[in-house]
Formats: sequence, C-alpha cells, structure tokens
Amino acid sequence: MMTKTISATEAGVGLNPPQPPLRRVSDLPGPKGSVLMGNARAINSPRFHQVLENWGREFGPLYRFRILNKSFMVSAERDVIAALLRDRPDVMKRSTRTSRMLEEMGTCGLFTAEGEEWRRQRKLVMRALTPEVIHSFFPTLTALTERLRSRWQRALDAGKPVDVLRDLKAYTLDVTIGLAMGHDINTLEAEENPLQRDIEFLFNRLARRLTVPFAYWRVGPLKRAVDREADAASARIEKAIFGFVADARARLEQNPALRQKPSNMLEALIVACDEEGSGFTDATVVGNAITMVFAGEDTTSNSMAWLIDFLAVHPQAAADMAAETDRVLGDAPVLADYHGLERLHYIDAATREAMRLKPVAPLMAVEAAQPITIDGVEVPAGQVIFLLLRHSAERQSDLVRPEAFLPERFMEGAGEGSSDPGRKLFPFGAGPRFCPGRYLAMAEIKMAMSMLMKHFVLEPIPGAPPAQEIFTFTMTPDALPLRLAPRRPAGS
Ligand code: HEM
Repeated sequence: MMTKTISATEAGVGLNPPQPPLRRVSDLPGPKGSVLMGNARAINSPRFHQVLENWGREFGPLYRFRILNKSFMVSAERDVIAALLRDRPDVMKRSTRTSRMLEEMGTCGLFTAEGEEWRRQRKLVMRALTPEVIHSFFPTLTALTERLRSRWQRALDAGKPVDVLRDLKAYTLDVTIGLAMGHDINTLEAEENPLQRDIEFLFNRLARRLTVPFAYWRVGPLKRAVDREADAASARIEKAIFGFVADARARLEQNPALRQKPSNMLEALIVACDEEGSGFTDATVVGNAITMVFAGEDTTSNSMAWLIDFLAVHPQAAADMAAETDRVLGDAPVLADYHGLERLHYIDAATREAMRLKPVAPLMAVEAAQPITIDGVEVPAGQVIFLLLRHSAERQSDLVRPEAFLPERFMEGAGEGSSDPGRKLFPFGAGPRFCPGRYLAMAEIKMAMSMLMKHFVLEPIPGAPPAQEIFTFTMTPDALPLRLAPRRPAGS
C-alpha cells in the first residue's frame, strides 16, 4: 500500500520533491515527563485543552507527549488539520479510545461509527437534519423559545435570579428531544429532571475518563461508585429512549402514512430499520437517538453561554444585536417567521465570532486508520493525533486584533477584498464528518438570542471572577458572571 503524505504546505496533494529522511513520532519535540507515567499528571486536568495549547506555544505546531508507554501526536497546523479531517473515514478515523468511552456510555451511533457503517448512518442522519426538517419543526421551536422567555420573565417578576447556564441546557435538551424524538419532555420547567441530570453526569464522567491514563473502570475490582453510577445513568437513558422508540412504533402502526413522511428523526430511523436488508437494528436507532442528545445539547447551550458572556462586557455589540432584533421581530415576542432567521445577520456574526474565540470543541482526537506521513514524520496506523483547532487559527491568524471580540469582522462586506475569516476555522469540524446539526444549532441560537435581546439586558456582576474554561468533553464556562435584568422599551 502507498503511504499517504500530508504536508503543511500542500496538504498531501501534488508532487513530492526529494525529502530529508523521515522522522519518527518519538523524534518530535515535546514536554518532559516522568519515566513511568510520562505526561499523565499534566494532562489529568479540567483544563486539559489549555495544557495542550500551551505546549503548542512552547514546542511548535507538531509535537508529541506520552502517557505511560503510549505516545500521542499533536498538530496545530491548519492545512494539516484540514487534510486529516478531509481524509475520513478511510485514512483517518475518530480516536478509538474516545469512541470506546462514548460507546460504553450508550452513545453508539454516527459519531463513533466508521467505514461503511458510518456512510450508511450518515445518509440517514443527514436526512433528519436538513433545513426543510427544521422548517417543519419551526412552530415547535418558537413555542419552546416562548417557554424560555416566560420562565425568565416570571423569575424576574418574582425578584428571583435566573440560572442562565442551567436554563440554556434545558432549552437545548428540550429542542433536541423534540426534533429527534417528537416528545416534549419539558426539562426547562421540571426543577430536577432525571434525564437531564443523568446526561450532565455522564458528560462529566466522560471528560474525567478522557484524561486519566488507565481505564481502571474496566477492571471489576477497581470500579468506583461513580463508575457504577455512570453505568446506571447510561442504562436509565437507554431505557427512556427505548420508551420513545416504543411510542414512535405505536404512532407508525396507528398511522401508516407516517412511513412515507416521518414526522421526526426517530420515526425516520425506525422506517429505515424496518426496510428489508437495511442493516439497521433497534440498537442502531437507540444509539443514534442518544448520539443526537449528546451531540446537540451541551454544544449548543455552551456556544450560547460563551456568546452571552461576551455580550455582557461588550455593550455596543449587545445594543447592535438588540436593534437588529427589534427590526426583525417587530411586535412579536419571539421569532415566529422562519424566514426571519436569515435576516438576523448580526446575531449570526456575533455567534461566529464567539465560536472563534471560545469554540466548544477547541480540539479533536483522530487516529490514523493506515500508515501515513505528516510533515516528514512517519505515522503508524493506530497513532492518535490531537488536532488543536482553536490554537491553529490563533497561531496562523491574519486578523486585525485577533484577541478582540469584534462581530463586525464576520459581517458581509467587512474588510473589502479580504477573505471570509470563518474559512480558516473549525467550530463545526470539517470534511465529510462536518457537524450535521449545524443548521439546527444556528437556528436555536438565533431564536434564543433574539428573544433574550428583545426582552432582557445582561449586567455583569461587579467583582465576580471571569468565566473559566472547563473541559467537560465540550468546553464549558464554569459560571457566568452576569445577571439578567428586564430591558426597558426604547424611549422609556
Ligand atoms: C453550536 C452547536 C454545535 C457545535 C459547535 C457542534 C460541533 C461539532 C463538531 C466539532 C463535530 C465534529 C465534526 C468533525 O468530526 O469534523 C460535530 C459532529 C457531530 N455533531 Fe455537532 N455541533 C453542534 C450541534 C449539534 C447538534 C444540534 C446536533 C444534532 C442534533 C449535532 C450532531 C452531531 C453529530 C451526529 C456529529 C457526528 C457527525 C459524524 O461523525 O459524521 N451537533 N459537531
């Protein structure tokens, strides 16, 4: 087999001029570690992503680190990252270690599938998340956004504080379950929803497991109470989803016309599963439903949280966003016209700018599915490579004041003649595994943010420490140092 070559300058395409002798992964620069544990201690941290980014600043765009006897490569070279993400699923795949941990928690679907299985599942999931599907779902999205507005309004009327982080998570969970499964579970108003609690708990466990050197929970006697609780939480989630599957099957039986035009993702998956020779099983259906919940909840709510965090300390951007909202929403309390989504240009730009500085996926782990060469380094099959998505953009930035939050740089026509700054970023990944939920996520963000700007203002809490980045599989703010207050109508 020919070994695939990827280089920073031509990303694997074109002629290969005479090259210096190949290096090995162990020849790369990297942090010193202990003889036995390597760098395990340094990366076992809730700021795991920042540790890798800081090493990138110290050792350059291609380095290695070690945990016990296993070496990891790290790349912060934008063209290399784009090429590796593009060459999936055949040359590169998701890290087997990450996928196995996700699957242990029941998330056995598109995100972890590989090869032909991934191709089949991808077609199906893409069909469930097209703009047309979001259009049909839009009345429900409007109703769920109105529910968020009235909860916040009631809290302020009663003089109670709003837990913005908690409510955004509940909102995105309700949206995802509504779209994917056709159920309104209303975690927003249930003070302690068991499903939400279990999902939150599993996210935290996953983040911890990803940074420990040894999968001790697979060794019976070493399993701790939290790991047994993780098994129980994952079984409870699976049971809840099997319940949704049973409901969807009952609906399809009562109304066979739905088989031609399924009304949600779960029905579409079941119809596909029932087709002869489909290769899909009930386990595929349930695994993909859980995948949607995992992939769609925290990513979207944390993206909104980071945007809100910026707006609280950028009053001009908040005012511009509010003015745009007033123009597009008119007298409506929340956006009720689907086509209005396309007119919320400033919210779109501010969201993209917040994702540039605070992407919920600042890094991604991939694995070579076959031997390749990256920038003159021989990479064996099975080698895990961390891709520093945020740091790659930071180190190769040609933006003016790249550290500043300036939504205007993403407005159409900004910086005449310059290229779109979004082209060089990876907030939703890249290549054939690009996030299929992007359109839904942007719709949710625009709905919630336009509602927020129309009715509320964001006030920084004096003296509160700034939000810290915590790696809980997605990059989460530890707290939001702000509060909601009612917005006074213009002119009052
Ligand atoms: C702002 C919100 C979101 C962000 C920032 C985000 C980001 C990402 C990223 C970085 C990936 C990896 C892409 C790659 O490997 O190249 C991904 C994959 C994925 N996302 Fe999202 N996502 C978001 C919302 C959603 C939503 C709402 C859903 C569905 C309801 C979703 C479903 C998925 C799925 C199923 C995959 C796996 C795709 C595959 O492996 O083929 N995401 N997302």
